[in-house]
Amino acid sequence: MNKQKRQAVIAGNWKMNKTPAETTALINEIKPLVANADCGVVVCVPFVDLHAALDAAKGSNVKVGAQNCHFEKSGAFTGEISADMLKEMGVEYVIIGHSERRTYFGETDVTVNKRTLAALNSGLKVILCVGEYLEQREQGVTAELVSMQTKIALMGVTAEQLKNVIIAYEPVWAIGTGKTATAEQANEVNAVIRATVAELYGADVAETVTVQYGGSMKASNADELLAQPDVDGGLIGGASLVAEDFAAIVKAASK
Ligand code: PGA
Repeated sequence: MNKQKRQAVIAGNWKMNKTPAETTALINEIKPLVANADCGVVVCVPFVDLHAALDAAKGSNVKVGAQNCHFEKSGAFTGEISADMLKEMGVEYVIIGHSERRTYFGETDVTVNKRTLAALNSGLKVILCVGEYLEQREQGVTAELVSMQTKIALMGVTAEQLKNVIIAYEPVWAIGTGKTATAEQANEVNAVIRATVAELYGADVAETVTVQYGGSMKASNADELLAQPDVDGGLIGGASLVAEDFAAIVKAASK
């Protein structure tokens, strides 16, 4: 596998944190700290913060993403946001299938696939999340499960569209718990994801796909995780809410 063939991307997942004014302040803090980054830098903010984020990030290397989108183009879906709405605002990325959406909001592999297709068809870049629960890891089905999640999510996605997909491996037991997968565990599952992409699209395409790790990644463990051959960046929750902590991870990915 050849890490040079793909871009490392560090994406912050702010979850349900920060008001618009706080968003402006945090991005203004982040910008100078990551200005020399040699990796992609993305912040995925709540819908109502997108305007503020886009304004604050303008002219910098910080890209803006949302945390979900609906799969229909428009219609009677009270409370939902379409991919076209995000695209027209200037949003570049959207997280799809985060485990919190799967656990608390009824997201399934099938709806993840529909949202992925809708986002890609609207011209958004997708950060597609997959990962196992602790019981599934203990039962030894992590590889099968993550491979299945990846395959279903990518149904109908063309090789051309796959260029706009980042896959994030996020073991659910490591999210927000302070428990990080070991670098070896992260690499092992990221390699399974890449092998699954190879099965679907061929080895050449698989070598170019950015596969992130997420789950309690922070400044103190980023170096080791990001040094793994199949870990091409990170999806960062808690540590993305503190400018210095986020910037330290960006720095680790820029080495
Ligand atoms: P965490 O969250 O870094 O706080 O564990 C990661 C995520 O949910 O994307």
